Parts: sequence; C-alpha cells; structure tokens
Amino acid sequence: GIPAEPLFRSQIKIYHCSNLRKMYLYNRPRIMQKKIVVLTGAGMSADSGIRTFRDANGLWEDHDVMEVASPHGFARDPALVLDFYNQRRRQLLEVVPNAGHKMLVELEQHFNVTIITQNIDDLHERAGSSHVLHLHGELLKVRSTGDATMVLDWKKDLSLGETCPKGYQLRPHIVWFGEEVPLLSEAAQITVTADILIIIGTSMQVYPAAGILNYARQGTPIYFIDPKPSINASDFANLTIIQSTAAKGVPTLVKDLVRKEF
Ligand code: APR
Repeated sequence: GIPAEPLFRSQIKIYHCSNLRKMYLYNRPRIMQKKIVVLTGAGMSADSGIRTFRDANGLWEDHDVMEVASPHGFARDPALVLDFYNQRRRQLLEVVPNAGHKMLVELEQHFNVTIITQNIDDLHERAGSSHVLHLHGELLKVRSTGDATMVLDWKKDLSLGETCPKGYQLRPHIVWFGEEVPLLSEAAQITVTADILIIIGTSMQVYPAAGILNYARQGTPIYFIDPKPSINASDFANLTIIQSTAAKGVPTLVKDLVRKEF
C-alpha cells in the first residue's frame, strides 16, 4: 500500500495552507479587501412594505411625482407636499429592513462595501450597513429653504411655519425632480473603484442615478437583481441578471460571492 507518512504530511500541508489562506483573507485589513459597490432603488425596500415608484402605473402613493416631488409642486401647494412626506415618514417608522438589507451587511464581513442608494428611507442604515450614500436625499432629514447647508435630523411631522434658526421654512432634505444631485460625482468616483458592482431593485429610468453603472471599469462583474429586470444581459459585458426579489436574490448572491472569494 502507499506509505502512510508522506501522504499524511502532504495532507497536513494542504490543510494548513488552505486554512492559512482563509485566515489571511478573513483578517486582512479592509483596504486589502475587494471593493463591492451596491446601487439600490425602491425595489430594495419593496419587501419591507414600502411601495415603489413605477409599479403603481407611475403614481407614487396615488400622487403624480411632479406634484409632490418637484420645486414647482412645493411652490404651488407646500402644505400638500409637506403632508405627503409626513405620511411617508410615519410609514417609514413602521417598517423594518428585510433579508436583502441584512445580507448586504453580512457582505461587509468579507468585502469593502459601499452602498449608493436612490432611496430616501434609512433601512440600509437600520440593517447595519456602514457606508451608505443617499443620491436622492433622506426622508428623516429636513433643511432650511434659505440655507441649503443647514440640514437637521427630523423624525416627526413637518408643517408650514416650522422654520430653521434663521427663520426660513424647513423642507424635506430630498432631491426633487429638476434639482441638482449633489453627491453624484462622489458616487461616480466610488463606482470607478468597484471590483464588483451589484444593482438591486431599480428601473434604471431616472438619470443621473441610472447612469452610475457606466462608471464601472471595463470588465467589472455586474449583478442585477430585479423580478422584472429593465436591462438585458446583452446590454453590458460581464452582466449577470438575477430575476428575483431583493429579499430572496440578495442572500443567494452574497453566499455565492463569499464562496467564490474564499
Ligand atoms: N425586489 C427587488 N426589486 C423589486 C421588487 C422586489 N421585491 N419589487 C419591484 N422591484 C423592482 C421593479 O421591477 C423596478 O424595476 O424595483 C424597481 C423599482 O423601480 P422604480 O419604482 O422606478 O424605483 P427606482 O428605480 O428606485 O426610481 C428611481 O425615481 O421617482 C424617482 O427619486 C425617485 O429614487 C427614485 C427614482
């Protein structure tokens, strides 16, 4: 038979080095970890019970978005707009992150993860994600209409007549249609550094957010999770489409990425 000794030693060597590799990969500094950039849209929060924008034939909670999410709409009927976001804020405080949000936190154990979201909810943060960039602002913040740099945390209703310390009416700290997307260049710079790009729950219809994925370097693997994907696998090289909800598709993809990496 085969002499037990040499085989046993080589087995130890294989066992030892694969464990060493795992130990190195698990414990290397964040800066050495692969960078994953995740672009999320309303579909990410759908499984938490927050309705998307375009599933309800283009109405957002029965309102035309231009009526409640544009400077013109706010000028025309500020009380209606403030009440609309009061309803959105109250609803947000009733819902919780879903399995998709939670598995994106898990991803941070093994990769250097940044989330670029179009969503104004705080579900990524509540799930525990540590690097979240809100392209379209945040529902739980308000800002002065007289000094855009004055931003306040705000979890309750906001009414007409509630002003900033300088006396200007407060408004939702949200990017309305036709307004600047201040964090766009930061988001683009982050996307350029991605080793892997994951896009979850967005119809890719609203620019400039939808254009972010064009900043990914040539050859970067892109994973697109959506039950009704709005792009085709042939649209981009290295694109994998996962036709699934976020709550189901994200956990599967995360496990797969971790297995591939380790
Ligand atoms: N899981 C994942 N994706 C889902 C789910 C789900 N459970 N349910 C629906 N979706 C997908 C839809 O198929 C659609 O592709 O989520 C996407 C939602 O698209 P939109 O409603 O257009 O939302 P979004 O792409 O985030 O809109 C972008 O438009 O109204 C503006 O500023 C607003 O940030 C918003 C921007």
